[in-house]
Amino acid sequence: MKYPLSLTVNDENYDILVEPYHTLMEAIRDGIGLTGTKCACEDGRCGTCTVMVDGQLVKSCLMLGLQANKKSVLTIEGLGAPDDLHPLQAAFLEHGAVQCGYCTPGMLLTAKQLLDENPNPTEEDIRSAFVGNLCRCGVYTHATEAVLSVAGEEEK
Ligand code: FES
Ligand code: FES
Repeated sequence: MKYPLSLTVNDENYDILVEPYHTLMEAIRDGIGLTGTKCACEDGRCGTCTVMVDGQLVKSCLMLGLQANKKSVLTIEGLGAPDDLHPLQAAFLEHGAVQCGYCTPGMLLTAKQLLDENPNPTEEDIRSAFVGNLCRCGVYTHATEAVLSVAGEEEK
């Protein structure tokens, strides 16, 4: 039996029906149709499904959809648009931090959360922030350089 789920995703309101065992990742991808949130391990190890819920990073495969009722979710689709990239997206491209791109949505949202909390992170802070985001293409050095290039921009 499905239950109603009301939530805001990228500033749009959605009212959908979900099974009680559906994860937030399934609600976003299958219920709402936003497939930028990627699915890989489904047990919290890879970080490809990372989104922000009420401003906090969440691995959406570890949260039930119904737990997001009345909450505000940010997915990669809400970070920027092709003609209006977020500075982090532009920096990832500029620094070659995107290869296959499967980990990229999760890494970008992780980087956003880091800069929201700490606008001037050190290289070590950035590498620590990425510890929950597995990248099989190994873009960590490029992604770290990208975040460093954006760090402190707000204050410049
Ligand atoms: S799919 Fe959620 S952490 Fe891997
Ligand atoms: S760019 Fe391919 S998994 Fe990270």
